[in-house]
Amino acid sequence: MIRIALIPGDGIGPEVVREGRRVIEAAVRAGLVEVTMEEFPHGADHLLSTGETLSDETFARLRDEFDAILLGAVGDPRVPDNRHARDILLGLRFRLDLFINFRPATVRLAELSPLRDAEHRPLDIEVFRENTEGFYTGSGGFLRQGTPHEVAISESFATRYGVERIVRAAFEHARTRGRPRVTLADKANAVPHVYGLWRRVFQEVAEEYPDVESDARYVDALAMQLVRVPEQFSVIVTENLLGDILSDLAAELAGGMGLAPSANLNPGRHALYEPVHGSAPDIVGTGTANPVATILSVALLFEHAGAEAAARRVEEAVDASLAAGIRTPDVGGTATTSEAGIWIADHVARG
Ligand code: NAD
Ligand code: IPM
Ligand code: MN
Repeated sequence: MIRIALIPGDGIGPEVVREGRRVIEAAVRAGLVEVTMEEFPHGADHLLSTGETLSDETFARLRDEFDAILLGAVGDPRVPDNRHARDILLGLRFRLDLFINFRPATVRLAELSPLRDAEHRPLDIEVFRENTEGFYTGSGGFLRQGTPHEVAISESFATRYGVERIVRAAFEHARTRGRPRVTLADKANAVPHVYGLWRRVFQEVAEEYPDVESDARYVDALAMQLVRVPEQFSVIVTENLLGDILSDLAAELAGGMGLAPSANLNPGRHALYEPVHGSAPDIVGTGTANPVATILSVALLFEHAGAEAAARRVEEAVDASLAAGIRTPDVGGTATTSEAGIWIADHVARG
């Protein structure tokens, strides 16, 4: 039994989580998995009507009463300081210590990649983004705020413990999944302290994995190479902010943000699954949001909860929908969010 908490959140979040839920229910009907589900109202509307972002009480329930959380997206123009998104999304990542942000970017259908005309093998990249340190801890402050002499400081953190555990997770994954190479993305040439630690730890851990190739790159050149010669990359391990940027780039190269799933993990513990994309306020309510990123996040949820057959069935259904042309406009079709979700759910239920 997988106990799943759903947090649809803001913008297109509820639209895509509805389809994720439909697919979970289809997998249950097919006898592939057993689940319980409970929906949480947290997001901008909830903040504006109750003042709560994510209370300690709700956090404790999510931590103690569920195995997995499926989140749509958080971020709303009515909350310009984004505090609820930090408390909910970053709060869950930090407080549950979900140090691995796993973001696979795999071409599911060659014609959807902007690199389709290049002479490349399909892009198949997995980003291991450090999820609890870097610039994201909130450490910093303002001095003389609002004056011409304002000072703003945001500090980036790297701990030996934090860097080592994500680098090790990337190498361990490469070894067990037969991935040929782990590449570090950093900026050690310009930011020597934080990225100097990253580079030293990466080299040390790499020596323990002689069966896995390793190389360390500067992130600017890596971004360029990701577009030019993407097949040289397999697993990319990197710091929080760089991983945020690289995972959007990799997602887009693989076929679009509408297809990119992610998992926030601490092996053996709770996990949080979410599409890589955000709340997309520009398309909310139009019925054009692509539910696939959320549905593939459900596949990751099933996989990490030990329901591999359910995970494979969901992935097959997604691939079948794309091949059959059941696509939302971002991937060149005319299907609505629900039409795509219903088609995929039917395919999951039928097998
Ligand atoms: P975004 O990912 O929401 O949107 C970027 C572009 O991609 C937009 O043009 C959008 O229409 C399109 N897009 C995104 N998801 C799509 C989908 N499923 N189907 C079709 N098109 C899709 O990024 P943004 O505009 O920079 O951010 C909007 C809000 O979302 C901000 O408040 C931001 O902080 C938040 N955000 C939240 C998360 C999260 O909750 N995990 C992630 C990223 C951004
Ligand atoms: C993501 C998002 C978040 C991040 C934002 C909304 C804080 O962009 O999940 O990629 O930067 O991690
Ligand atoms: Mn992001």
